[in-house]
Amino acid sequence: IIEIGSNFIGKHIYHFDSVDSTNTIAKKMAAEGAFDGTVIIAEEQIGGRGRLGRSWISPKGTGIWMSIVLRPNIEPTEAAKITQITAAAVANAIRKATGCEVGIKWPNDIIIHNKKVCGILTEMGAELNSVNYIIVGIGINVNVDIKEFPEEVKKIATSIRACVGKEISRKDIVKEILLEFQKLYLDFIENKNIKKSIDICKKYSVTLGKQVKIKNRDKEIIAEAIDLTEDGQLLIKNESGEMQTVISGEVSVRGI
Ligand code: BTN
Repeated sequence: IIEIGSNFIGKHIYHFDSVDSTNTIAKKMAAEGAFDGTVIIAEEQIGGRGRLGRSWISPKGTGIWMSIVLRPNIEPTEAAKITQITAAAVANAIRKATGCEVGIKWPNDIIIHNKKVCGILTEMGAELNSVNYIIVGIGINVNVDIKEFPEEVKKIATSIRACVGKEISRKDIVKEILLEFQKLYLDFIENKNIKKSIDICKKYSVTLGKQVKIKNRDKEIIAEAIDLTEDGQLLIKNESGEMQTVISGEVSVRGI
């Protein structure tokens, strides 16, 4: 059981043994009126979900499989900002708790030594033009044994254990994430901007300055990643030299 003494993010924590997906549980709880800042953690997910309809392998007792229920007063188009806040919070937290050098691959992957250690899945419940709730799902391979993952995942995934060389307390990392997240999220709510988070995302970015391939539905563009805008979009220069911004999509960075 985790006690972080928080009066907001993580004030209410629900800890499950085995669930389908913590995001699915969080959505259900949010629809039934769960408090802003409620956290759902599971030891194991049977149907862990990733972005773009992928699955997320979530073995028992070895990773952080967690979702946060948020009720911000924002428009649906601003949901991507929450992903940037989360990426910044998780990157900072992992660095503080483990000393590992992490990178952020825009928009939502945390990387160690060019491999993915954490993914973020932001989902929303909205009516017309107002957000009812946002669920941020965070999956971190802490002590997971990557050798047991399927071949195609092994090639692109890593764990914190592989970086540190020994097992690391998941609780310490969870605490640090919730504290960092609360700080950055409150800054957004109070000041109506995500400058602090964007600065962190820029500092740790493994995307900026690189050549990227962006797949969005059927379209694929090759471009150079130039900057992050103040609301967390990626500013790119395409092959004909034109600048444009992308809100999200599947991004591959050359060499990663
Ligand atoms: C991705 O990189 O594709 C996102 C992965 C998100 C995984 C987390 S684990 C906790 C939460 N519950 C889920 O089913 N998914 C997210």
